[in-house]
Amino acid sequence: MKLLSVLVMFIPLTFADHHNINETKMSMYFQDFAAGLNIPAIPIAGIPGHLWTFTQFGTIYVTDDLITEGPELYSAPVGRGQGMYITSALDGGNSHVMVSVVFTNTAYNGSSLQMLGISKQFDSVREVSVVSGTDKFRLARGYATFETVFYDSTTLHSVIRCNVSLFHY
Ligand SMILES: *[C@@H]1O[C@H](CO)[C@@H](O)[C@H](O)[C@H]1NC(C)=O
Ligand SMILES: *[C@@H]1O[C@H](CO)[C@@H](O)[C@H](O)[C@H]1NC(C)=O
Ligand SMILES: *[C@@H]1O[C@H](CO)[C@@H](O)[C@H](O)[C@H]1NC(C)=O
Repeated sequence: MKLLSVLVMFIPLTFADHHNINETKMSMYFQDFAAGLNIPAIPIAGIPGHLWTFTQFGTIYVTDDLITEGPELYSAPVGRGQGMYITSALDGGNSHVMVSVVFTNTAYNGSSLQMLGISKQFDSVREVSVVSGTDKFRLARGYATFETVFYDSTTLHSVIRCNVSLFHY
């Protein structure tokens, strides 16, 4: 009897929550420089005696990429992609991504998204999970795709489109 009354109290709350789930889809562009004055991905640790590169198992990078609204470098800033990448496949093909999108644009200023998972570095489209978020994106879940849309081999500047699809409250 006691258990039943507890159940009855919780059911209406559960239904109410389901009405407030929002779906958000967005596209944004990571401006990545692999070298130069503004180096946003730096290897900070790796296996001693091996070169610390994207394809060497055990290499850990810390990153802080500018994220823009459009593909052009001087397009409006949306935020920063801050976190770590770890080359986590023995053959160097996969990288483990732990990156937050830290928004600074008007729409989402102060909110963030947490991206986590394996990125198959050499696939044309890489997909990782969005495991949560803060502020406007509390309790978010979804996924993000990454695809390189521009690469300049002289400046090592690449532009990576990130499409995010999310459910959140
Ligand atoms: C974002 O928030 C920070 C700190 O609260 C503020 O200084 C900045 O002007 C805000 N930016 C925008 C685009 O609203
Ligand atoms: C979610 O949708 C509700 C209306 O259904 C709206 O009031 C609320 O601001 C939305 N939340 C976000 C973060 O967009
Ligand atoms: C990302 O979104 C753009 C449209 O904004 C679309 O053209 C593109 O195909 C999408 N990429 C993926 C991998 O879904």
